[in-house]
Amino acid sequence: MYYGGDYNPEQWPEPVWDDDIRLMRAAGVNLVSLGVFAWARIQRAEGEFDFGWLDRILAKLHAGGIGVNLATATASPPPWASRAYPEILPKDASGATYWHGSRQAYAPTSPVYRRLAAELTGAVAERYASHPAVVMWHVNNEYGCHLHADYSDNAAVAFRAWLRGRYDDIEALNEAWGTAFWSQRYGDFEEVVPPRLAPYSLNPSGLLDFKRFTSDAMLELYRMEKSIIRAAGGTQPVTTNFMGAFEPIDYRSWAADLDLVADDSYPDPADPASFREAAFTRDLMRSLKPGIPWVLMEQAPDAVNWRASNAPKAPGQMAALSVQAVARGADGVMFFQWRQSRSGSEKFHSAMVPHAGTGTRTWKEIVELGRDLAAFPRLSATVDAPVALIYDWHNRWAVENSDHPVRFDYLEVVRQWHAAIHRQHVTVDIRHPGDDLSGYAVVVAPQLYLLTDASAANVAAYVAGGGTLLLSAFSDVVDEHDRFAAGGFTTRLGTTLGLRVRDFGALPIDGTHDTATVTVSLEGASVKGRLFAEELDLADATVIGDFRDGRLQGRPAFTSRKSGSGRAYYLATVPDEEGMRAVTARIFAGTGVRPAVEHLPQHVEAVVRDGHLFVVNHSERPFTPSSPFGRRIEAASEAGDTIAAYGWRVFGPPATS
Ligand code: GAL
Repeated sequence: MYYGGDYNPEQWPEPVWDDDIRLMRAAGVNLVSLGVFAWARIQRAEGEFDFGWLDRILAKLHAGGIGVNLATATASPPPWASRAYPEILPKDASGATYWHGSRQAYAPTSPVYRRLAAELTGAVAERYASHPAVVMWHVNNEYGCHLHADYSDNAAVAFRAWLRGRYDDIEALNEAWGTAFWSQRYGDFEEVVPPRLAPYSLNPSGLLDFKRFTSDAMLELYRMEKSIIRAAGGTQPVTTNFMGAFEPIDYRSWAADLDLVADDSYPDPADPASFREAAFTRDLMRSLKPGIPWVLMEQAPDAVNWRASNAPKAPGQMAALSVQAVARGADGVMFFQWRQSRSGSEKFHSAMVPHAGTGTRTWKEIVELGRDLAAFPRLSATVDAPVALIYDWHNRWAVENSDHPVRFDYLEVVRQWHAAIHRQHVTVDIRHPGDDLSGYAVVVAPQLYLLTDASAANVAAYVAGGGTLLLSAFSDVVDEHDRFAAGGFTTRLGTTLGLRVRDFGALPIDGTHDTATVTVSLEGASVKGRLFAEELDLADATVIGDFRDGRLQGRPAFTSRKSGSGRAYYLATVPDEEGMRAVTARIFAGTGVRPAVEHLPQHVEAVVRDGHLFVVNHSERPFTPSSPFGRRIEAASEAGDTIAAYGWRVFGPPATS
């Protein structure tokens, strides 16, 4: 179990380092991410490397028994680099330049940035590839975090090359993007520009390809650095830090290139539901690389600095969120950062060693958690998850384009489904529609607007093979180029569902918050629907709920069809979270999907990892189990009835009799 955080010794005089190592040992720290923003310290000018300080701190850490996740330090080029080579600076869609003076001011496609980053990575890797302290490599940092996309001339050149690789012939691009519309036809790849500031709505297929290209361009950078590390003889695991369901990067397409997945996670302590959102990202991280434990690479020991108001964590909340990550497949709990900075933009960001020192609650909790994690049994990454929830970056990019029947936040809807299932204490994996779904009792696929033929066939085969699918409104609408299929909507999954969608019936919204709702009957109860009230053409689906009001009163809203040895449900609207809970509970009932533990309050979560039951109380209210509970919770009662506010327990597998 890794325990530690980002360590930035370059911000401190060397005498502080010995104190750092003493304190790290006291806290049970066994891994630090070193040098993440140290480019300017390592390289004072082009060709001038200074590794003396890094040699010294690595030696000290090693002597202290602390492993190093060594950064390639390429995340923020120093001012000398952009002064000498202004072409490395990125531009926004209107052509304005992002200057140095903050961080991440580089164009991912700039050949000069790539050369400089490669030289730095090479120098670092050659020097430290076989250093005994180095146990992991931290490539760059949070790719795209601030610069979601670059629209510079470098990007234009690289985008054209990417498009040539994808389409080969410009007519294939014209066909894919539908450029017959609005006189957009391209005669040559050289005419294509990134989706820069334009008078009106940009070509949606082009926007989608630009998103793909941007994610791929950053992946190229990661791959470049990883291959330099390998060429220098570095055999340690290589990773970079993800940011949950971060929109600009398709982490699913990256995961194979990471030896282990690492995630940065900053749930808002002031939001009592943020632990549920955190559960979603932890499930996503685990699902990106099934079977391989991931690492929580960054979280805040206490408050952050970048919200409008930065609430501290409640006593125990930091540990509760850490144990949640472990329960959901993490084998490492790390923080940003080790010692609180005295200056700079993040001086108010909490740290493992707070500015106020070791007499603080934060420090005590850091030491306590280090001790507790060190006592954890070694567990496989297997988490019992009978349900898959579908989340697809390409679908997100396409479905959130403008000019659609209704605007909505896809991620928010996916998270609401996750939260609705999480409230039932059922664990889900987050999967892609093209993944092997055969192991799941139920697959929930919200707003699967963009669906490739291959993914559609995969989903249909899952149902035919005995799976239970819940698909909801605005699904199976376009192909991978964001084009309608010939012959209407639901053309690929219509047979499985036993219906076709005739129209989408957008409901009025007020800004980003949906307002108008429809009522859907659900076996005596009713569920509120929003965003869509679709008109369905039924072939051989059975109606299990209809619209109770609105334009489609009396028309089918929720259907079911047996297909092969499985079953496919379709819901012609987007329920609110309570409705999502009711709908999934109804579907789970017939499939044997059960909660990890019955009768838990909603603020207590229960997850089974490698046969061990984790119970975490995410609230200020202590939790006292009451019967009936499974055998493992009886053990909890023996250990003392109450799980304190933000308390947690782990129970070993039930004894086999
Ligand atoms: C992350 C970043 C860290 C630090 C942290 C503050 O995005 O990787 O360097 O800035 O946020 O919360």
